[in-house]
Amino acid sequence: MSKVILQVEDLRSYFFTRKGVVKAVDGISFYVDEGETFGIVGESACGKTVTALSILRLLPEPGGKIVSGKIILDGTNLVELSKKEMRKYRGKMISMILQDPMTSLNPVYTIGDQIAESVRLHQGLRGEMVEQEVISALRLLKIPSPEVILRQYPFQMSGGMRQRVVGAIAMSCRPRLLIADEPTTALDATIQAQYMALFKDVQKKTNVAIIYITHDFGVIAQMCHRVAVMYAGKIVETATTRELFKAPKHPYTSALINSVPRLDRKDARLYSIEGQPPSLMDLPPGCRFAPRCPVVKPVCREQEPPEVGIGYGHSVSCWRAK
Ligand SMILES: Nc1ncnc2c1ncn2[C@@H]1O[C@H](COP(=O)(O)OP(=O)(O)OP(=O)(O)O)[C@@H](O)[C@H]1O
Ligand code: SF4
Ligand SMILES: [Mg+2]
Repeated sequence: MSKVILQVEDLRSYFFTRKGVVKAVDGISFYVDEGETFGIVGESACGKTVTALSILRLLPEPGGKIVSGKIILDGTNLVELSKKEMRKYRGKMISMILQDPMTSLNPVYTIGDQIAESVRLHQGLRGEMVEQEVISALRLLKIPSPEVILRQYPFQMSGGMRQRVVGAIAMSCRPRLLIADEPTTALDATIQAQYMALFKDVQKKTNVAIIYITHDFGVIAQMCHRVAVMYAGKIVETATTRELFKAPKHPYTSALINSVPRLDRKDARLYSIEGQPPSLMDLPPGCRFAPRCPVVKPVCREQEPPEVGIGYGHSVSCWRAK
């Protein structure tokens, strides 16, 4: 039996702005097992990154705030930790890979210095042990000639290699949970595929739990064991990846899956979802997808659909789901 490493319960993260309250994450629950890759998928601005930043307790201040809910990592509720205590968890227990590797790397330090800093800080190693650990982090991410690479600067490397270095830094503290937020969008298709394969390998070797954030169902299919579909600050459906593709129950999930171009069918049309998601400052009553839903019924516009389990870990929030 695998062990739950992260349990998020009814998390709400809002931004308090001059124009109003942005309900970026509005009551989401999910769990992630050790050694599992859990995908979070959804259109732009649905709350994926805010979910990640909430888990890391790195919401932009002063506007962003976790207003309620629990984030339980290996038995500890992160929401209750002080900033100082949280700093210990970040890096040691959880780390994150962002979309653009250049923003994560410091241009004026060598790769080796940047990984060494993380190793000293989070593992408390000193002297020769540090260089050994830096090399093993570079090896884990299959970076060729690590002894040479560690003396290079970020600008001397290709985009794909830089993203591997970011992965090496993230893994150098031996985290239990890694959050990857659209880590491959800046890469071309071949490098993207290599990077995803690499992370599967890293996971096999370390048993790290991964939350993989993307708007791309193709990436979900390749990377994730289970997946949550987000829409306007809520999770509308959660299932194993296989089940979600085979039998999606939420109209939004079906629309997203149908909008993935199919290579096996020449006649496949690109299905796009009409309309725009609602403003997170001014949400409609009832189901948030109702204004765009092709199978909306009267109750949908009045009452929010509850989340219901339909077996085998599949759950959905829709009045039509059975
Ligand atoms: N600092 C902020 N102040 C106010 N609103 C914010 C702030 N950061 C994010 N938001 C809002 O929170 C919502 C969720 O944003 P988030 O970045 O999580 O989206 P996302 O799903 O990651 O989108 P993308 O796929 O484009 O990265 C958006 O409506 C966004 O405008
Ligand atoms: S609850 Fe109603 S509006 Fe919402 S997705 Fe289901 S059928 Fe569509
Ligand atoms: Mg984002």
